[in-house]
Amino acid sequence: MQFEHIPHPSPLSDAEREAILANPGFGTNFTDHMVTIEWTDEAGWHDARVEPRAPIQLDPAAAVLHYAQEIFEGLKAYRHGDGSIALFRPDQNARRLNASADRLAMPHVPEDLFIEAIRQLIAVDGAWVPSAEGSSLYLRPFMIATEAFLGVRPAKRYKFMVIAGPAGNYFKSGAPAVSLWISDYTRAAPGGTGAAKCGGNYAASLVPTREAFSRGHDQVLFLDAVEHKWVEELGGMNVFFAFDDGRVITPPLTGTILPGITRDSLIQLLREEGLEVSEEAYSIDQWRADAESGKLVESFACGTAAVVTPIGKVAGHDGEFTIGSGGPGQLTSKVRERLVAIQRGTTADTHGWVLTV
Ligand code: PLP
Ligand code: COI
Repeated sequence: MQFEHIPHPSPLSDAEREAILANPGFGTNFTDHMVTIEWTDEAGWHDARVEPRAPIQLDPAAAVLHYAQEIFEGLKAYRHGDGSIALFRPDQNARRLNASADRLAMPHVPEDLFIEAIRQLIAVDGAWVPSAEGSSLYLRPFMIATEAFLGVRPAKRYKFMVIAGPAGNYFKSGAPAVSLWISDYTRAAPGGTGAAKCGGNYAASLVPTREAFSRGHDQVLFLDAVEHKWVEELGGMNVFFAFDDGRVITPPLTGTILPGITRDSLIQLLREEGLEVSEEAYSIDQWRADAESGKLVESFACGTAAVVTPIGKVAGHDGEFTIGSGGPGQLTSKVRERLVAIQRGTTADTHGWVLTV
């Protein structure tokens, strides 16, 4: 597909952009352009544009504003030592977007179009990819239903967009390990949309997240909807548990958690380290018992935004427990380094995970 280009000079000076890149935070600064591609029933995907980032016009009856027909992705572009820019497993994000599209009754974005849209944005906004260790350009592809229609049925018009912004540490606290609050709320129930990356899941997680923050924790931990017993995931990350005998467990993909690309990558990397990784249900009571007995030595959260973040403490109405020393453990640090080295191109990419754009 041909992309129409509507470039414009950045409203920021180089010095202003460099100041942002030196301290990017997460999700508050954005690059100068955005990609938009339209979809209609009759024409499919068409009218692809790279244009100055600006507010978009939507009819007040647009379906996304009423019934939340919206899906999104999150991936990062990394600046390698030779100045080139690389993505990490973008094909997996394209596939997951389409799995989310299936669940939300939306059209697929062909994998090559998804990646081309990202390439086009980086081609004009490449100066926004930071080079400092620990920072990257966070890309946010998303799709919304734009048809003006208030009946409840899948819309006939959509917009796929890509925006981006420089990202540093996701967690502001700067603490060596994060603390979790076990929520009474449910994130996703069997048969629901838990495995889809749709905005509605995150809307439902805001009250639990606010509660976790107000109690002084960094993230909310969700248990399963049926028994309120099995550990599922965090507000925006998957979880892993590491034991003193070299076993590692992560909750299985039963349809209620997001199939994280970091999760999948870490399963592979940990197995290559010779560890026995199983996708297995693990209860909150067992977690506490294993942490208290010392059988469980480390736990960590993982995701694109959070990378690999040690979990130091877990708290709920029944009190709290500490994992290991409460700080980053050896395995967590090692696997994080392995992953980051592949993403940043400082070690060989033997898996074919890195795509230079
Ligand atoms: N779980 C949730 C709810 C998320 O929002 C994310 C972040 O995308 C993840 C898990 C981790 O997924 P990934 O590793 O693909 O970023
Ligand atoms: C990501 O890691 O990409 C996420 O989507 C997590 C959060 C920012 C929603």
